[in-house]
Parts: sequence; structure tokens; C-alpha cells
Amino acid sequence: MADDGLSALRISLGEQLAALRDVAPAELPPALLHVAVQRFVVGAAGDEVYLVRPADWDQLRHEEGGAGRPTPYWARPWPSGLALAGALSAAPPATGARVLELGCGLGAPSLVAARAGADVLATDGVPDAVAFAAHNLALNEVDAQVAVVDWAAHGEALVARGPFDVLLAADVLYTRGNVETALRLWPRLLAADGVLHLADPQRAGTRDFLAAARGTFSLVSERRDDGVALHVLRPASRAWPGGG
Ligand SMILES: C[S@@+](CC[C@H](N)C(=O)[O-])C[C@H]1O[C@@H](n2cnc3c(N)ncnc32)[C@H](O)[C@@H]1O
Repeated sequence: MADDGLSALRISLGEQLAALRDVAPAELPPALLHVAVQRFVVGAAGDEVYLVRPADWDQLRHEEGGAGRPTPYWARPWPSGLALAGALSAAPPATGARVLELGCGLGAPSLVAARAGADVLATDGVPDAVAFAAHNLALNEVDAQVAVVDWAAHGEALVARGPFDVLLAADVLYTRGNVETALRLWPRLLAADGVLHLADPQRAGTRDFLAAARGTFSLVSERRDDGVALHVLRPASRAWPGGG
């Protein structure tokens, strides 16, 4: 991307991030706006996604930590998100399918699903993440909705917008609280004929989730060479809380 394009992106991001944090742009941590655009090839067919992201994640983590803010897990493209984007590139959701991504971070899976023609809502609990995800959708000239939603705190707002045909979640089951909320909430978000795509670097939380969800979902799993597991879960019963 030409320098002037990157500058425009930085200005637009700066304005949104400052508004979301309710601070002046000059008060944002410098590493948040020191951004880079990176090209990723996802899936065997060579689908390309361009992601704008803070260029130096360690520096951003350092600055956020110094200001007493949480680790910015959203701010880097994790292997699970890229693997899920690749899986969706190979087997995209149907045109018009209602897709919800939980903990979208930079938003690669949402981007690929929306590019295929799905009706996508990309969500994350961190407002900074959602600003970057929105810019990534725009950068790739793809239409989708974004929203700041912590699904542990505001799950009912998502239930009210559902049920969804497809749920996407990449590397989000790394806290006990998230696992417990996911077990309660996710079945209520998914249509009876829907599908949940879960990508994960084989964390204990995901093992616990899958063990507890057995009986509620049918499960097909694939373990990749890079350590990411892709799980496809479908409602096991017609009496499904999400309806459909
Ligand atoms: C390890 S990062 C993964 C980001 C992205 N899915 C990927 O794979 O690149 C975890 C993401 O989940 C988000 N997250 C964690 N718990 C959440 C919750 N309860 N509600 C919404 N987002 C959450 C974080 O803000 C972060 O963006």
C-alpha cells in the first residue's frame, strides 16, 4: 500500500479509536497507531486477505500494560484465526447465511465469510479490535457489520439478534469463564440446522468445552500440522434452544 494510503488509514483509525476510548487522539498509545498492512494467503486455493494491525505487538502490550490496560490479545493475527479463514475459503457459508463471529480480533474469518456473500456480524469485546476489524473489512472491500460485544456480559443482546446459521470462534476459549459462558450461550445463538466452527491451538479450555458439549453437538475435528485444531459442531438434537 502506498504511504499516503497508510496515512489515511492511520488517521481514520486514530479518529475511531479515540472516539471509542473517549480520549483525544494524542492520548492513544503510540504503538496502537504504528500500523502495518500484511498480506496473508489463506486456504489451499490461495485466497488473499490484507490485514491492518499494530506493527509491534510486544510494544503495544508493553504500553497497554504500563497504562494498566489488559493485554491486547486482539491485536495480532493468531494461527487459529488464519486457519479458520482458510477453512471458510475452502468451504464458504452459503450466500445470505447469517454468520456471527465471536472474539473476531482482526476479523480474518469474518472477512472471508462476507466475501463469499454471507451476512456477517463480526464481534469482539474490545472496542479497539472492532475498529481494526471494520477497517480490515473496508481494506478488502467487503461488506459486513461489526459490533462491540463481550459475549460473557452481553450474550442476551446476541440471542436477540439470532439465531445464526453459522457461528465462528477462533482461539477464544482460553479462560474458564469463557468456557462456561460458551456452554450456556452458544447453543442459544445457533439455529437448529446451524454449524459452529471452532478453531483452537488445542487449549485445555477447548478440550473442556468439547467434552461438556458432547451430546449437545455432533463433532468433526481436524488437527493441522501447525498445531491448530478445526472443530465443526452441529446440533445433535431437533429440540434445540436456538430454534430455527
Ligand atoms: C487470542 S485472540 C484471537 C483473535 C482472533 N479470533 C484470531 O484468532 O486471530 C482472542 C480474542 O477473543 C476476544 N475475546 C475474549 N473473550 C471474549 C469475550 N468474552 N467476548 C468477546 N470477545 C472476547 C479478545 O478480545 C480477542 O480479540
